[in-house]
Amino acid sequence: MYRTHTNGQLRIEAVSNTVTLAGWVQKIRDKGFMIWVDLRDRYGITQLIFDEERTPKAVMETASKLGREFVIQVTGKVIERESKNPNMPTGDIEILVSELTLLNPSLTPPFTIEEETDGGEDLRMKFRYLDIRRKPVRENLIFRHKVTMAVRNYLSAQNFVEVETPYLIKSTPEGARDFVVPSRMNPGQFYALPQSPQTFKQLLMVGGLDKYFQIVKCFRDEDLRADRQPEFTQIDCEMAFVEQEDILNTFEGLTRHLLKEINGVTVEKFPRMTFDEAMKRFGNDKPDIRFGMEFGELNHVTQHKDFNVFNQAELVVGIAVPGGNSFTRKEIDQLIDWVKRPQIGAMGMVYCRFAEDGTFKSSVDKFYDEADFAEWAKITGAQPGDLICVLSGNTSKVRAQLSALRMELATRLGLRKPNEFAPLWVVDFPLLEWDEETQRYHAMHHPFTSPKPGQLKLLETDPGNVKANAYDLVLNGNEIGGGSIRIHDKKVQAKMFDYLGFSPEEAKAQFGFLMDAFQYGAPPHGGIAFGLDRLVAILGGQETIRDFIAFPKNNSGRDVMIDAPAAIHQEQLDELNLKTTHSEN
Ligand code: AMO
Repeated sequence: MYRTHTNGQLRIEAVSNTVTLAGWVQKIRDKGFMIWVDLRDRYGITQLIFDEERTPKAVMETASKLGREFVIQVTGKVIERESKNPNMPTGDIEILVSELTLLNPSLTPPFTIEEETDGGEDLRMKFRYLDIRRKPVRENLIFRHKVTMAVRNYLSAQNFVEVETPYLIKSTPEGARDFVVPSRMNPGQFYALPQSPQTFKQLLMVGGLDKYFQIVKCFRDEDLRADRQPEFTQIDCEMAFVEQEDILNTFEGLTRHLLKEINGVTVEKFPRMTFDEAMKRFGNDKPDIRFGMEFGELNHVTQHKDFNVFNQAELVVGIAVPGGNSFTRKEIDQLIDWVKRPQIGAMGMVYCRFAEDGTFKSSVDKFYDEADFAEWAKITGAQPGDLICVLSGNTSKVRAQLSALRMELATRLGLRKPNEFAPLWVVDFPLLEWDEETQRYHAMHHPFTSPKPGQLKLLETDPGNVKANAYDLVLNGNEIGGGSIRIHDKKVQAKMFDYLGFSPEEAKAQFGFLMDAFQYGAPPHGGIAFGLDRLVAILGGQETIRDFIAFPKNNSGRDVMIDAPAAIHQEQLDELNLKTTHSEN
């Protein structure tokens, strides 16, 4: 037996028992006649003591040669500590070691393996197995496990069946690029890794499974950010014989259960907002509603004077920053520089201080008077002591810019509290989205999403305004899930493909299997997929999903630990009928 107890287990009651422990050496304090070692495992840290007077000489000698991260096994007596450590669960006791076995030595680790480490991100990723020994990383992985288990148990209890769908498939158009896999047995042909199991889960509904879920890896070759990985995990769900309302209620139930079970937070009915309203009030389809700073549209109270910048703008819109009148001139200038950065792209920012005494002072005092500013304050909801920030220009651009500013200010002002949870359903998404690059409409969610009842005809006359039976679940300003009611009628699906620019031949070649299936009694159906990584990170009070993934990729899509992607040998390329290669190999 390697151990009788773990390193997080022993308390004062165990004093005078003989125990055997195993683990890693985290820290050594060697005074010569006395050596203390912090022994670590997944469960905690226990202090060991080697004492010249009480420890056998041979053991003392081995102990003096220990190094950080050596794996050892010790047997000894639990004794009460002279100086207790109230910050450690095992801080009342220590082990007076009588036997010591070195199970495996270790090289000196490249960074300190403690809660706070001196290792930079790159180094920690290269030695991720060492990083995982650190408590914060380990706890995140255990937290993820807890969330995943809670999801599985909840859905299973609601009669959902977990079904695995294939990873080697044909591409499903969901907006990102596919990762492709060459087929050795079918020269010149490729599988694609699924961006999601979308078509399969629909086929499971045709198959009569009624309620499906799967905790499943998805693959998307897209630009990476803090909340995006090339391979990530979805809680993918689909239900038959449902309307949008049924889906929203079912998955609101799941989310409410998780908030209660994992975070001990009770949330009443989730608010709902249409896409149009979210864009107008927050400039964003995933608004963080934990704080105010709602948009106030100011066109009618700014375009009656000689200020050309505003007069020429499609939209003039502002927010009131609570307490912002206390910002110094320098701080405001920095904010202006911040919105002018290329990532944000604003041309400039007009501001108006609303002093505690009720007077206004702005960067456009030349053009506007107190009565104008009073209107601005009324519309943006500004109170004395606030700062009104105003941007102008093209509606969609200016909304995105002001939304970014709103989030930045909220972060700076500490308004995005990680332990406060504000879920929100955003509904009535547009069916289509105009793509500048290809100069045509694309499906905003995916091509299987059904338009709102009665809106199919609008496709001919006003396609941009057709609304879909599509919804997103937003939590604290992050899109944690999205789904839709699907088209289940072959004719409607064919029409949609036609509208999206697929010729009948292309549609048949790519989605023939789905259209065929629809001819054999496809039930009305719909579903949703949650981003598990995002959900876990947010429930854990963070936004970087990498911290909740055991072996994540970096921002260039590389796994720096195993050094992937990598070139492959010419023989392998030949076997796969792939002719070209880069020369590194
Ligand atoms: P969608 O594309 O909206 O819908 O994806 C669902 C959820 O998956 C998460 N997500 C990601 N998480 C991490 N890294 C990524 N690269 C990434 N991309 C997406 C988001 C998102 O809300 N088949 C549809 C679902 C449906 O219609 O039922 C789908 O995949 O949290």
